[in-house]
Amino acid sequence: MEWVRGDLLGHGSFGTVNLGIPKSQSLQFPPLMAVKTCGSSHSALLDHEKSILQQLQDCPQIIECFGGDFSFENGEKLYNLFLEYAMGGSLADKLKNSGHRSLPESEVRRHTESILKGLQCIHENGFVHCDLKLQNVLLCQNDVAKIADFGLAKKSGEKIVGFELRGTPMYMPPETVVAGEQEAAADVWALGCLVAEMVAGTPPWRCSAEGNVCGLLLRIGFGEEVPEIPGKLSEEGKDFLGKCFVKDPRKRWTAEMLLNHPFVVDHGDDHDHYNTRVVAL
Ligand code: ADE
Repeated sequence: MEWVRGDLLGHGSFGTVNLGIPKSQSLQFPPLMAVKTCGSSHSALLDHEKSILQQLQDCPQIIECFGGDFSFENGEKLYNLFLEYAMGGSLADKLKNSGHRSLPESEVRRHTESILKGLQCIHENGFVHCDLKLQNVLLCQNDVAKIADFGLAKKSGEKIVGFELRGTPMYMPPETVVAGEQEAAADVWALGCLVAEMVAGTPPWRCSAEGNVCGLLLRIGFGEEVPEIPGKLSEEGKDFLGKCFVKDPRKRWTAEMLLNHPFVVDHGDDHDHYNTRVVAL
């Protein structure tokens, strides 16, 4: 397929993401795509991501992948991965555009259900995402949230070499910090952090010493507390987060169990306990 590189959309766990516009219409490719590109030093990671995405393509809550190719630009060989274009940007963009206020609870519930369905599919297929965060949840057509960026994903049970921690410290569960354990339950803890961030407007563990990653990891791994549960959340929401923030990964709820929690089962539009706007008629 011949295509043209468009505007920069963002950066992934490695490589950049641009708009990709096919030169001619075909049934195989949509008119707009997102193209993740890297140089040869990261090409194995791009292959790894493509292989995992291709095994998860039956799931509507995972970003679609249309294959890969390579190109030569300014004398450099570049490796490209063609992905579904998420016109709504990421949940991180959405929160930023709201001025880091919270998203309405009904919206949080809807996105949480989509992300849980995506996670369930990832875990059923024997993978762990390892880097679930607002930047990696993209809003596609009809505002459907889909999980993206599988650059750090791994096979479940795969040992992490040399105690290498994957992901974002702020979203790490105790077992990852203490024992380097990163299995499906770690994605559920990260989901809880992401939901708390959508509600509070700012990341969890906010009161930790700014920039002190070691101090934060000590608190997560060895302290008694769990991430702060936003007070303005409904009781169902607080209970849901309580199930995500169980310190023992074996007692933490799974994505499948959480899909039956009332926080996601009963999401109508009557759950906006905050952000209520009075509209002058
Ligand atoms: N940024 C990163 N990946 C993207 C995608 N698939 N669509 C839109 N923006 C993105």
